[in-house]
This record gives sequence, C-alpha cells and structure tokens, in this order.
Amino acid sequence: MRDFQNRVVVVTGGASGIGKAIATRFAKAGAHVVIADIEEAPLQAAAEELGAVGIRTDVSSLASVYALRDAVLERFGAVHLLCNNAGVGGAGMAVDLTVKDWQWVLGVNLWGVIHGIDAFLPTLMAQAEAHIVNTASIAGLIAYPRIPIHYNASKYAVVGISETLKGELAETNVGVSVLCPGFVRTNIRESQRNRPTELRNEKRNERGRAMDAAVVAQLSIPVIQPDEVAALVYDAVVADRFWIFTHPELMAAVEDRYAGVLSDAKAIGWAPS
Ligand SMILES: NC(=O)c1ccc[n+]([C@@H]2O[C@H](COP(=O)([O-])OP(=O)(O)OC[C@H]3O[C@@H](n4cnc5c(N)ncnc54)[C@H](O)[C@@H]3O)[C@@H](O)[C@H]2O)c1
Repeated sequence: MRDFQNRVVVVTGGASGIGKAIATRFAKAGAHVVIADIEEAPLQAAAEELGAVGIRTDVSSLASVYALRDAVLERFGAVHLLCNNAGVGGAGMAVDLTVKDWQWVLGVNLWGVIHGIDAFLPTLMAQAEAHIVNTASIAGLIAYPRIPIHYNASKYAVVGISETLKGELAETNVGVSVLCPGFVRTNIRESQRNRPTELRNEKRNERGRAMDAAVVAQLSIPVIQPDEVAALVYDAVVADRFWIFTHPELMAAVEDRYAGVLSDAKAIGWAPS
C-alpha cells in the first residue's frame, strides 16, 4: 500500500511509545488514524495532539475489540491498516512468576493480537488493499538471557501467528508484517500502570523489577527512539515487506539461534540438503 490519503489506520496501544509514533507517521501521510488504548488520559491527549480519533479499548477483551471495530466502521466505513501493537513488558524469572503474571502478559501481548485479527480480518479482506502489522519483538526470535519467559512466549507466538497469516493471505489483498524491535525508549518499563487489579500479585515482585532494569543495562545495544521505528514500519508497509527489524546489532544473535538448531540436527546426521 503506497497511498495513505484518507485511508483508515487503527493502532492499538497508540497512546504511547511505538504505537503513538506509528499513529503520528500515518497521520502525517494523510490517513484517518484511530488510536485504541486502555489508558484514558494519554489516549485523549494523543488523539488531540495527532488529530486522531481515540477509542478506549482493552485489547485483552474480545468484546472491547469488537466495540472498537464497530465504532471505527460506524465512523469511517472501512479499515485499511491494522497495527496490533498494544503490549506490556513483564519481569521476573520463571521460578518467581505467578499464573497471574502469565495471564496478564499473554492476555495483552498474545490475545490482544488474536482479538485484533478476529475482529478486523474480514473488514481488511473486503478492501481493495489492506495490511496488518503485528508488533512482536526481537524476543520473538531469540530467548535473550533474562528476557522474561512469559514475554518471550507471547512474542514467539506473535511471530508464529504473523508467519502463518502471511502464508494464508499471500494470494489476497492483505499484506502482513511483523515488527521485531530491539530496545526502544518508551514507557514499557512502566507497564504495571495498566495491570488490572484482579491480575496483580499480592506482593510486588521486587526481584523481577530489578532484573528488568538489568536486562537493559547488561546488553550494550543502543536504545532507539519510537519515531525511528515508525519510519521503518511505514517503509515496510509501502514495500509490503514482512520482517521489520530495528537493530542490526541483534542479527548475530538471530543467526546464532538458527545455527544452534542446525548444529544439533547435524550432530545426529541431519544435514540440510
Ligand atoms: N520498547 C521496547 O523496547 C520494545 C521492544 C520490543 C517490542 N516492544 C513492543 O512494542 C509494543 C509497544 O510498546 P511500547 O514499548 O511502545 O510501550 P508503551 O508502554 O510506551 O506503550 C504501550 C501502550 O499499550 C497500551 N496498553 C497496555 N495494555 C493495554 C491493553 N490491555 N489494551 C490496550 N492498550 C494497552 C498502553 O497504555 C500504552 O499506551 C509492545 O507490544 C511491546 O511489547 C517494545
């Protein structure tokens, strides 16, 4: 898709960070932008700032995402680009996590994407041209030391969903991209702000919080700005490119992962042919 003038773009998690930057980029290109977010005040502020429509949405709730779709269709009658971007960052080692931690992180990062696809795919397929961008992470391709297990699980799933979708939609008018950022300067480390009361732990996981900071401190890769990511997303949608990476520094780790897969296969004589 090259021309975004008067096209309808929906960005979940669009009140902050990467989502807000994506919304800004497509608004600049002339699109009607709808930002959907759970956090009311930043949502209204961002909508005003961008001249976008802000619709309060909890992506972990199917009913809420259906209500978003219905509101967008009522207002604009179409959706051309869906960015399933809302996400939260968890913290903690597997041994310290509770089921509530898993439910919260998978509820937003994985079920949010599933709900987006469920609600919007028929509408996207009804357009002459459309595109879906799912925000995963580089943590959807590599299990970096100390990236929390539930976050990793959610992002591997989003990569898998996106790859399947790309294959299924190959002969259609709907393009698919998966965004796999490294570290980006956003509010993700404050994700607990949006955690529902019923999914909170009784005791705050201090060890987990400390490790979250340690992940960033340990890895010597640059932390980039959201607008740099948004520019890459824009280019990928225009070019109908599937993979969207943000950090060349992390590509060696991706290579290592697949080298590890192949080396264990080769060890039992299964050389790729
Ligand atoms: N920042 C990074 O370094 C980084 C790296 C890789 C991937 N990501 C991914 O990028 C995406 C955007 O995160 P960000 O870094 O911009 O963080 P952010 O916290 O700045 O923005 C996330 C937005 O999602 C919203 N949100 C949270 N729960 C929601 C829910 N249930 N329903 C609707 N909206 C909800 C938040 O209110 C917020 O506006 C996430 O999927 C995240 O996993 C971020």
